[in-house]
Amino acid sequence: MRVLAGESLSVPPIWLMRQAGRYLPEYRKIRERAESFLSLCFNPQLAAEVTLQPIRRFGFDAAIIFSDILVVPHALGQRVSFEVGEGPRLDALSEPDALGRLRPTIDHAVLAPAYETIARVKSELPPAVALLGFCGAPWTLATYMIAGRGTADQLPARMFAYHYPQAFAELIDRLVDASSDYLIRQFEAGADAVQIFDTWAGILPDDEFGKWCIDPIGRIVAKVRSRIAAARIIGFPRGAGTRLGRYLAGVPVDAIGLDWMVERSYARDYVQKRRAIQGNLDPLALLAGGHTLDRAVDAILEAFGEGAFIFNLGHGVVPDTPVAHVEQLVARVRRMRGVR
Ligand code: CP3
Repeated sequence: MRVLAGESLSVPPIWLMRQAGRYLPEYRKIRERAESFLSLCFNPQLAAEVTLQPIRRFGFDAAIIFSDILVVPHALGQRVSFEVGEGPRLDALSEPDALGRLRPTIDHAVLAPAYETIARVKSELPPAVALLGFCGAPWTLATYMIAGRGTADQLPARMFAYHYPQAFAELIDRLVDASSDYLIRQFEAGADAVQIFDTWAGILPDDEFGKWCIDPIGRIVAKVRSRIAAARIIGFPRGAGTRLGRYLAGVPVDAIGLDWMVERSYARDYVQKRRAIQGNLDPLALLAGGHTLDRAVDAILEAFGEGAFIFNLGHGVVPDTPVAHVEQLVARVRRMRGVR
């Protein structure tokens, strides 16, 4: 929270995207007990337990609530399920009329278990550990809602936006409202900060990057702050590259999440000089471990360690990551720069 307020710390705080998940044996045990992935997300007792597992094991500085970005389409009335080994499946919105199947606003009754999970975790978390909520950005949510699944190039959503610009804009507007309401409730339930995940920001052409990434997220930030004036928000426009400068000019987030592809000198000189930053470690360097991991960690501390910085990956922990590599990472980040 101090870094989000602009402070530079001699030892950066650390948490990892997807820090709760299949690489942890204790997660797999609980996952087996739940009927489905969504039923785990919507079981406050189990979701709170899974949220706390990586905090107990590694002593991270932040917990991120266990849920998924696709609970928002689910709460808008779209059918969402997760097939083991295949990823998410939704009732694809393949033409404009399909938008009529969605609710105009999100059903907070569907999301009530997520708010309860936040309240539970908050009451069990050591006070020095921050609690993060999150949502998906409208563009990234739209890619899954329109295709009905993950695709490599997001062709269905990109073509929908070209063929039916008005209907696409209406979908984005609805997601702006739904996501703002969802984040406000997360703050009210006890979240200290939230992250907005825009996994597919980087594939948009230049004009569309402004229209479908910067503008909607800017409106979400404004709506959330109109209710929660001090709301701390991290933006993660994956793949934005040298468009990060435009993103941070258009979206007044407190910190920018960096993927592992961005040029470090650009990120330091054009992003970190203006805003706190987070992330950048290649998830595959964490998977590789050993000297590869040590060198990757050192290069990041060298580039960003003097400014406002939160240690994290450039994307989520991959399922095969050995627990010992995460221990190695935490030890190296915390030992390198003095004693806590
Ligand atoms: O970071 C965390 O630990 C919090 C929990 C979290 C999950 N998903 C749990 C999850 C968060 C923040 C997400 C975000 C998310 N979900 C994103 C944005 C970030 C990113 O990874 O790009 C996206 C695009 C999704 C959609 C999604 N959920 C996909 C494509 C998949 C299947 C692929 C996969 O990685 O398994 C999921 C499933 C999912 N979400 C799992 C977890 C732990 C795995 C399901 C399981 O364990 O059975």
